[in-house]
Amino acid sequence: MADEKTLLVTGGCGFIGSNFIHYILAQYPNYRIINLDKLTYCGNLDNLCAVVQQPNFTFVKGDIADRATVMGILHDEGVDCIVNFAAESHVDRSIEEPDLFLRTNILGTQVLLDGARETHVPLFIQISTDEVYGSLGPTGEFTETTPLKPNSPYSASKTAADLIVRAYIKTYGIDAIVTRCSNNYGPYQFPEKLLPLMISNAMEDRELPIYGDGLNVRDWIYVEDHCQAIDVIMHRGKSGETYNIGGASERTNLEVVRTILEVLGKPESLIRFVKDRPGHDRRYAMDFSKLKKELGWEPKVTFEEGIQKTVTWYVEHQDWWQRIKTGEYMEYYERMYGSRE
Ligand code: NAD
Ligand code: TYD
Repeated sequence: MADEKTLLVTGGCGFIGSNFIHYILAQYPNYRIINLDKLTYCGNLDNLCAVVQQPNFTFVKGDIADRATVMGILHDEGVDCIVNFAAESHVDRSIEEPDLFLRTNILGTQVLLDGARETHVPLFIQISTDEVYGSLGPTGEFTETTPLKPNSPYSASKTAADLIVRAYIKTYGIDAIVTRCSNNYGPYQFPEKLLPLMISNAMEDRELPIYGDGLNVRDWIYVEDHCQAIDVIMHRGKSGETYNIGGASERTNLEVVRTILEVLGKPESLIRFVKDRPGHDRRYAMDFSKLKKELGWEPKVTFEEGIQKTVTWYVEHQDWWQRIKTGEYMEYYERMYGSRE
């Protein structure tokens, strides 16, 4: 891409989207970003307070599934690339309320693709997940050709979206790329996900609910490494391709929680084993050798460094998560947590 480009970032008020906007505006000061976000329970404009006043940043409150809003932006703004982060993203919520996941994650993606097609957007990037591949046993890794076998309503909706992107590439010839990343952690992650939940609970001396035996494995990536991978793919990736992105940091949930407790100097007696998540995937592990070989990307932040940085961020931003851990969200959390006792 040349020096001045306009990106439509959807879901930019969420965890990864807001980190991506900060990252891109720092790396490419001449780029313009339009952020379309519905501000659902986990979308937070506070995540972008450092950039909202910048002249090359525009926020539009709206739904990716709303055709008029999407077409309005795309017809007016001359967008060079759509990066679609907008999604319902929490597996536990998808078990409780699958409808919303199908609407946003599948139909919303389709509306954006229709917009890209109608207005000839040069590139569409679908931010997907390793969860589309399903669950692994103790060995092996997901590659881009691993069969798609999602197990939760969330991962099934992301899989459907990936396949719709594929169909639009094949049928209508749009230029699009799918990225599939492993579990992210870092600043601005909503405290319903494992790391921010455990860090904030431990800081408040609350119990840390570990599902099942705590031996489920995830491959953890520091969010900035993910943003950098998307940057590389957006500028040098090949249209029509899918790229796996991973952190090369497999850990059991129990290991993750013990590390957090160690960094915070809190006792292991806070750990509480609770009822397992239905359909809980046992292990994810990413083979990202395609991205490394073809585009020279690999993660830079080790798990130990990343955890230190993340814990420090949550310690220094207690206002941010304390505001969230009240009201509607806490009622939901108590309901979920209660139902696992
Ligand atoms: P998040 O839940 O923190 O943020 C999602 C954002 O999307 C929020 O700002 C929300 O308001 C917005 N949104 C939701 N529905 C919308 C709609 N209909 N229209 C417009 N905006 C809407 O999620 P995240 O963790 O930042 O994940 C972002 C993307 O990355 C998702 O597509 C997710 O599937 C994918 N992903 C996440 C991870 C991870 O570990 N968090 C890993 C791989 C892939
Ligand atoms: P999560 O952050 O929800 O990500 P995902 O399910 O998309 O991988 O969960 C990460 C892992 O942590 C997963 O194995 C479920 C587990 N987990 C717990 O044990 N306790 C919790 O309270 C949460 C939220 C997750």
